[in-house]
Amino acid sequence: MPETVLTNSALEEMVDTSDEWIQERTGVKERRIADDKDSTSSLGLRAARKALARANVSPRDLDLIIVSTSTPQFLFPSTANLIQDRLGASRAGAFDLLAACTGFIYGLSLAASQIEAGAIQTALVIGAETLSRVVNWQDRSSCILFGDGAGAFVVQGKDEPGGIRCSVLHSDGSGADYLFARSGLRESWKGDFPPNGLEMQGREVFRFASRVMVQATEEVLEMSSLTLDDVDLIVPHQANLRIIQAAARGLKVPVDRFYINVEKYGNTSTASIPLAIVDAVDSGTLKSNSRIVLVGFGAGLTWGASLIEWEAMPTPGAALQDFLRESWYLLARMRSLFLRFRRLLESLLFQNGKRRNP
Ligand code: COA
Repeated sequence: MPETVLTNSALEEMVDTSDEWIQERTGVKERRIADDKDSTSSLGLRAARKALARANVSPRDLDLIIVSTSTPQFLFPSTANLIQDRLGASRAGAFDLLAACTGFIYGLSLAASQIEAGAIQTALVIGAETLSRVVNWQDRSSCILFGDGAGAFVVQGKDEPGGIRCSVLHSDGSGADYLFARSGLRESWKGDFPPNGLEMQGREVFRFASRVMVQATEEVLEMSSLTLDDVDLIVPHQANLRIIQAAARGLKVPVDRFYINVEKYGNTSTASIPLAIVDAVDSGTLKSNSRIVLVGFGAGLTWGASLIEWEAMPTPGAALQDFLRESWYLLARMRSLFLRFRRLLESLLFQNGKRRNP
């Protein structure tokens, strides 16, 4: 998480709202804002390094890096490319995935399918957002909800059954205008760059979300021939406490079956589910050999759920392994600088010698 905290009281200074209104309608108390020197890739990189340390996996072992984000640093190259370079994960393919707040579930599902198919062994799935850069800070009906952050999972194939058991993924583009942000492209080739900012019809999103959270949870359970009694914890997308409460009513389970930390971070879009899992692990709520349902929804409209057998707690590596990993990141930085320098040298040589590219 970025360190800068934006409280509801600070928002009172920016728009016509109150701490009381925000807490009552959303459950959010504060959110984090990425510093000026930070970006989606720097937040994602920090999450990735923490995940690799916790899982005790070397960046060299990564076959695939998926970054789920709606706020990529560039249209291209992908944020995943930038993170791959900084990790020194030279064997890994890397790409961004955009499925808005459901993106982390899409990413996990994709990584698991690639592993099951035998195409890869180890993937890094990152959810990273700097929503503060796209939120309209004059719009009180939306700016109160969102925050910045990043979370990451290492997903690795094992011989024993378990892990990511199954997922359901959905999309309904007819609801695209409920929640959107323009890409920043010109509308015509000679036109001006248009203003860019998040636009949302809150009530409609609320109704859609409360419905699909129930639907996706039931669907993923049915797919795995389980019932809610077999599930230890539901980890929902942290958009609004009232949406989670509505989902609990729809599923006819007490709300304490859901893990909730929306009060601390607000809606961090695709980062919210991994951040909630990290909190649940650190607070001891999520224990080894638990069965969990991840369920999310977002712009698109998109929604989905995954059923996960959370077997063992990650075992952090020894101090020596941590030291080696840190040294690796330093080498990765040097490697990246060397590759840039070599490209510069090559282009100078080709230019001066007026040689044609091979
Ligand atoms: N502070 C004070 N008043 C506010 C306000 C704010 N920040 N935002 C809106 N209001 C006002 C409205 O102007 C309206 O006033 P009016 O009755 O005089 O017209 C009133 O509060 C009720 O507005 P409404 O939009 O019906 O509120 P709501 O209970 O639906 O709550 C949201 C608004 C945005 C919190 C809620 O709809 C929501 O969370 N929707 C889901 C959004 C979401 O999750 N998006 C991300 C999906 S991934």
